Amino acid sequence: MYQVVVAGSINMDVVVSADRHPAVGETVRGYGLNYFPGGKGANQAVAAARLGANTCLLGKLGTDAFAEQLDHFLRDQNIDLTHVLRTEIAPTGTALITVADSDNTIVVVPGANDHLLPDDVTSVEINKGDLLISQFEIPDATIEAFFRHGKERQATTILNPAPAKELSDKLLELVDILIVNESELSFLTNETLNEDPEAGEIARLARKARIHDDQVIVVTLGRHGLLAILGEREIPISGRSVDVVDTTGAGDCFVGAFAGQLSIGSSLDKALEYANAAASVSVQRMGAGISMPTGSDVTAALRQEVTSL
Ligand code: RIB
Repeated sequence: MYQVVVAGSINMDVVVSADRHPAVGETVRGYGLNYFPGGKGANQAVAAARLGANTCLLGKLGTDAFAEQLDHFLRDQNIDLTHVLRTEIAPTGTALITVADSDNTIVVVPGANDHLLPDDVTSVEINKGDLLISQFEIPDATIEAFFRHGKERQATTILNPAPAKELSDKLLELVDILIVNESELSFLTNETLNEDPEAGEIARLARKARIHDDQVIVVTLGRHGLLAILGEREIPISGRSVDVVDTTGAGDCFVGAFAGQLSIGSSLDKALEYANAAASVSVQRMGAGISMPTGSDVTAALRQEVTSL
């Protein structure tokens, strides 16, 4: 079994539920306030670990009460936390999330995540075949150093460029597998996708986004499933019909589950199918970190008939 090593954000998600999202300048009444463990890096690590992968998280917390609560949660997840560091110069990362109509809006305040430095992620031991994951809630220089460290040791690198922002060719060249949703794909290719895009159009943009033909691109399509591009091959996987409660962290669940499956030797096709089912379980639960499924949850979901939406 290879190791899944995630370098990324650890946040306290401050979540309110409401009947609808407020318009700009508007106030709406909320009916619940929760503090949930989150952050794309932590969520992806929890997903991989709960599904049985040997997982290590690299990240930075502050020294405040949120740091203690997140540390407490992560300690229970069977994740190697040796490289989760603390800083006194910034508070723990926080995300303010509104959930309404089964969808969310998020404002992230990075805090300590912005202080995760290249030296913090290059001391970890990486072996040939390990799976390295990162996202866009830690500094670019840190992601680049982490992936370079991995490539020098023949690891596989997975980038989930979320939340979307400019992706340099220098970083993209270090990426083996790029996992994006539709809006990130639009952003990276500078092209607008219409509301219900055809598979051919998604495939065209995915090919445009990759820097070379060997790079694998996975486009997650929410309730429509996903489309992966592997060289000339296109791998479409249907969405699963489930009752959606909260989509926060569903993309992270997909990334962590996918890497976890690759780490135990699954084929790319099987790992995609499995991760798609895992994400369909996570959207049926509130919260990000706490919504990640176990192996038996995913096995049960895989037994259910797939309904293409
Ligand atoms: O992807 C979901 C995550 O994004 C949330 O947990 C929040 O912390 C933000 O980082």
